[in-house]
Order: sequence, then C-alpha cells, then structure tokens
Amino acid sequence: MKFFLDSAKLDEIKFAYNTFGIDGVTTNPRHIMASGKPFMKAIKDIAEWIKEEGLEGVDKFPVSVEINPHFDKAEDMIKMAREVAAISPNFVIKIPAIEGGIEAARKLEKEGIRTNVTLIFSPSGAILPAKNGSLFVSPFIGWKESNGEDCKQYIQDIVTIYKNYGYYGKTEIICAAIRTAKQIADCAVAGADIVTCGLAVYQDMMKHAYTTQGLGVFCDAWDNTVTE
Ligand code: E4P
Repeated sequence: MKFFLDSAKLDEIKFAYNTFGIDGVTTNPRHIMASGKPFMKAIKDIAEWIKEEGLEGVDKFPVSVEINPHFDKAEDMIKMAREVAAISPNFVIKIPAIEGGIEAARKLEKEGIRTNVTLIFSPSGAILPAKNGSLFVSPFIGWKESNGEDCKQYIQDIVTIYKNYGYYGKTEIICAAIRTAKQIADCAVAGADIVTCGLAVYQDMMKHAYTTQGLGVFCDAWDNTVTE
C-alpha cells in the first residue's frame, strides 16, 4: 500500500518523506491556503524540492495539484491543467468528478497529462474515471464517515468493480480525507492502492498504549541489568 501526504506544507512533506517514506503528495485548495503561500509559489516550491531529492517523474513521487475549482467547462480545466503540468513532470492534475471534469480528464490523459479525479462519493462515481484512463481516483472517506456512513463496503465495492473490468492497478484508488488510523486499516483490508491523509494520522498509526507500556517494562529491566 502506498502512503501519500495530504498537505502543501513543505516542512511537513520533507518530514513525512524522511520519517515515514511517503510515496507522494496530494494537495487541494484548502491545503494550499493553509501553506500560507500563493498557489504558484506553493506548487513551485514542492517541484523544486522534488528536483533536489532526485525524485523527478510521476512514477517516483506523484504530486496531485487541484486546478481552479470554479471551472466547470472542460476547455477551461484543460487550459489550466496544461499550465500546471508544465511546471513539473511529477504533477498529476486533480479534477472534480463532474461531467466537464470527466471530459477534461479523458482528453488530458490522451495527451499524456496524468489526472486524479477527486470528490468521489460512490462506487458508481469511480467507474468513468477508470474507463477513461485516469491515473488516480479519489473516493473520500472522512467526509462520509463524519456524516455517519461506514466506508468499508464502499471502498470494497470500488475494488471489486475495478477487478471485474481490468481497471485494478491501472487507475489507482486513493482513499482520501482519511482521519483515523483505523480508516487506513479498513482501506487496506478492502484492497485500496493508496491512502492520503495528514501527518498526524500517520503519527497516530504508530501510537499504542501497550507499546508505551511495553517500553516502560523493558526500560525497567534494562535499568536493573548489568550491561557489561
Ligand atoms: C485528497 O486528495 C484531498 O486533498 C483531501 O483528502 C480532501 O479532504 P480534506 O482536505 O478534508 O482532508
């Protein structure tokens, strides 16, 4: 399973890469805003760091960049996507799961610009992006579970549909807006390819009361043993 960091903050990206070995980054307008930088500066800084790390190439370290969410016509989305994609070979263009978005993603993929169709909330919504060759599809978890829905079956259904029609592994399923370590495990059990979440969720994955307690037990033993 691949882990992406959902953030546009360069210090968080560097930390998550060096500590947890994350495989890529996803951003959205909210994350760009939280970075405190203008849109172009935020994405160019990420592109620059990718170069410094020798991670150039969408296969090595994909970074999803969302285009202007006000656009609903494919031609506007395509124009902006081309400008953003020209900045870095790692950029994958994040496009909303609306009619114009499907058309834009389909055309961009044909010209070699990779796409991530986002704001997916149902198994049926995940089919057209795969049929039209998008690199990623992003079904949201946290937003649905905050509203009382359980997402295990929804992700399992997308996995089953993709396996039924040969999309599995071609269009990778990014479970997005993950809020808890348990949601990561649920997505892994369902067979999702990728999860994307904030740094704190990855840090929570490695916390367990018994681990802390166990370390205390071993420290006590160590302190009561002659070590030479
Ligand atoms: C994923 O690709 C999105 O950037 C993200 O998960 C959206 O949700 P959030 O901003 O509520 O985490």
